[in-house]
Amino acid sequence: MKVIYLDGCATTRVDDEVLDAMLPFLREEYGNPSSPHVMGKRARRAVDAATESTARLIGADPGEVVFTSGATESNNIALLGMFAHHDTAPVNGVFCPTDHKSSLAVGQALAARGVETRIMRVLPSGRVDLDHLAGRIDLNTRVATAAWVNSEIGVVQPVAAMAALCHAAGALLHVDAAQAAGRIPIEVREAGADTLSISAHKIHGPKGVGALYVRREIRHRLRPVMYGGGQHALRSGTIPTHLVVGLGKACELAADRLDAEWRRVRRLRATALDILRAGIPGVRVNGDPDAGVPHVLSVVLPGVRGESLVSSLRSVALSTGSACNSGSQEPSYVLTAIGVDAEDANCSVRMCLDPRMAFEDLVLGVELVVERARALADVAVATPGQG
Ligand SMILES: Cc1ncc(COP(=O)(O)O)c(C=O)c1O
Repeated sequence: MKVIYLDGCATTRVDDEVLDAMLPFLREEYGNPSSPHVMGKRARRAVDAATESTARLIGADPGEVVFTSGATESNNIALLGMFAHHDTAPVNGVFCPTDHKSSLAVGQALAARGVETRIMRVLPSGRVDLDHLAGRIDLNTRVATAAWVNSEIGVVQPVAAMAALCHAAGALLHVDAAQAAGRIPIEVREAGADTLSISAHKIHGPKGVGALYVRREIRHRLRPVMYGGGQHALRSGTIPTHLVVGLGKACELAADRLDAEWRRVRRLRATALDILRAGIPGVRVNGDPDAGVPHVLSVVLPGVRGESLVSSLRSVALSTGSACNSGSQEPSYVLTAIGVDAEDANCSVRMCLDPRMAFEDLVLGVELVVERARALADVAVATPGQG
């Protein structure tokens, strides 16, 4: 049975062009890019080209790109790497409560070591409260961190303003751009990000590869979190040529298509909202729709438990929130942090709109969501207390 996929924030299908670019490096071109012989040199050239494409998507120099296994590892290398093992309070790091667990859990690990972790405040729009952040950063702050685009509500953070606040106090800004890369234009220098994470599988590349941008001038402020052959000073381990080539190709395609895809997603979103509003009374968008990317649509469907809706749909894939949190029975911590009450949070679903999907698929997918939501709402009305 065909499944209409509305969960591109969790992961995306590998683009055919990406797969074609990768396959030779799994078959005949299997040399190790660190080997000095002819096969190694060919692999190295492919890695170098992929490094350039990756750097270009974010406006970095190729020498500032470190390949990793994905945004989780990139966040860990950056955030852990900025603290020495013996660091304890008053040294502090400032975290964003709506971020992905791959940043928040690092904050918890640092706190367990004795580093002070502070939490910035987010407004009901989902945006970081800059006045509050200014008060959280002081001369003992090593880093503040936030996801440029939030994975559950799509809000875009004011990264440049955050960087200015950090730099004024001598602190660094780490940006998790896993959901931002390929969706919004990124110029790391203009944005003022000191380190920035991206992930291939969010942009039609393969799973298991990503990159960390490290601004050259602050490189000395990071130490590696693991040690080995020194393929990169911050990240040892044999470079997986096929994955890196896949990331490079995905970045190249994303850069070429960025503007056109943005326009297309806006149309998809308007259509999705029209269908939802026509079919379900009282639908509300979580967060400020004008402060986010159109790709992420988080909505409250009154009277419909998001979990029941998601798990009972056979031919539409969508989610109640971030994939890493979807096993949880608790209301989404992202929605709770922006002031959505528990009832509305439990009645929320997230649709991620993929610019490369067929328009008819979107229409059919959202219609099926509406049909199922209405059926579940009827059951809830017929059996009060069960909703
Ligand atoms: C904002 C954000 N950061 C980090 C990650 C983790 O990325 P990866 O799967 O590449 O480790 C995700 C994936 O869900 C994400 O949405």
